Amino acid sequence: MRKVTLGLVGGGTVGGGVFQAIKRNGKLIASRLGLRLEIAKVAVRNPGKGRAVAIPSAVLTTDWKAVVADPKIDIIVELIGGTTTARQITIAALKAGKPVVTANKALLSAHGEELFETARLHGANLYYEASVAGGIPIIKILRESLIGNRISHLYGIVNGTCNYILSRMRDKGEDFDFVLSEAQRLGYAEAEPSLDVDGYDAQHKTGILASLAHGFWVNPRTIHVEGIRHISQLDIQFADQLGYVIKQLGVVKQPAPAKNKPRSKNGFQPIQVSVYPALIAKSHVLASMNDVFNAVFIKGDIVGDTLYCGHGAGQDATASAVLSDLADAALDLKFGTANRVPPFVPHEREGWVTPLDDIVCRYYLRLNVVDRPGTFARIANLLGAAKIGISSIIQPEGHQGKSVPVILMIHDAPNRAMTAALKKISQLDVVKGNPVMIRVEQFD
Ligand code: NAP
Ligand code: HSE
Repeated sequence: MRKVTLGLVGGGTVGGGVFQAIKRNGKLIASRLGLRLEIAKVAVRNPGKGRAVAIPSAVLTTDWKAVVADPKIDIIVELIGGTTTARQITIAALKAGKPVVTANKALLSAHGEELFETARLHGANLYYEASVAGGIPIIKILRESLIGNRISHLYGIVNGTCNYILSRMRDKGEDFDFVLSEAQRLGYAEAEPSLDVDGYDAQHKTGILASLAHGFWVNPRTIHVEGIRHISQLDIQFADQLGYVIKQLGVVKQPAPAKNKPRSKNGFQPIQVSVYPALIAKSHVLASMNDVFNAVFIKGDIVGDTLYCGHGAGQDATASAVLSDLADAALDLKFGTANRVPPFVPHEREGWVTPLDDIVCRYYLRLNVVDRPGTFARIANLLGAAKIGISSIIQPEGHQGKSVPVILMIHDAPNRAMTAALKKISQLDVVKGNPVMIRVEQFD
């Protein structure tokens, strides 16, 4: 049986997972592909260090350049993370005409267009199923399965670490820092966990999904991003009382144009691409996606509503996605079809992302206010002056003269008006500390 030889660069959580998965299911994969996948080399930083998945020392090396240049190696698998060396590895391999498989969403977000162009110029392919939503084959779904659809709405829980933290804080009352350390121990978190909890990892992934759905490579700088550090137990409990859960969401949709705004620029209806924690109704299907699960809800004009869910981070789920790419890359080599499915087809030249300020939605507001006569009237006046309506209020009893949390649920309002009003509210002497504003996603 023909053999396809792999060079892994990275033997950590994901690299170890791929090594282990090929050992476990190599024969099964070979029987399905008619090809045998064989790992020839694994480049790491420190070959002497103890590894959860043992990799034979004869296979280990520190020289990724030699792995890429080795004529006996057919496919390069980049699993080191980061955007500097990973970019060099990917470009060197593509220039050598070798297909590259990567799980690196930060790399794609920052350098996607350059990498796709390099792949095209050198007749090689770039595969990145593992870059978004762990074990869910969402890249294949967008690029192949839903190819006949215009995508109007895409909502994703795309960061396993954040979903794990928010679920455990709600279900077990656990502390943010403790749950984050658990996510690190379980191999869910990035080497730099700020990428997870400050929303950047979800920004990279949401940008990739938005690009595939709308046909232009979304510049990550145009994606509004908010992390989850400011979400407290108090917010989780008030949200619960109001019938909601808090999830970090990647949102990609074509909203109705704001009044007095041009409907489109150059014929393209702009899209919202954002990442933020959001209140979602407990009855919505995404509300039940907990722990390390990811879920992506996609509405296509022909297929209608679809939902994909599964483990979104961790060794095995990610290795499964890498295996899927390895199978595609190996079959392309077998049949000489280097670009059967190109990594990205830019077909929307005029695409652009609408600024968040123009987006209209509902809000949850938590203010810490001094409970004394007139306090609420001052807040309501500021909101009223900005034409922002309040739909409900919660203020716990028995705090006269003291600081008390007040929860305001706000009707639909433009982001620009809401943030301006909130700035004025936060400057009132009766408002203590920083207000917390969380969007309410209505999936409309
Ligand atoms: P990791 O556990 O930190 O592993 C990184 C690996 O890269 C280590 O084996 C390290 O060597 C090696 N490495 C770093 N710099 C290197 C260099 N210059 N030359 C050779 N080897 C080098 O990271 P990971 O969690 O596996 O993540 C890898 C990639 O997958 C990242 O892009 C990440 O975003 C992505 N990803 C991760 C997950 C997940 O759940 N963890 C899921 C999806 C995607 P040593 O072992 O010697 O330190
Ligand atoms: N740190 C990422 C997450 C890994 O938690 O989702 C999967 O991409």
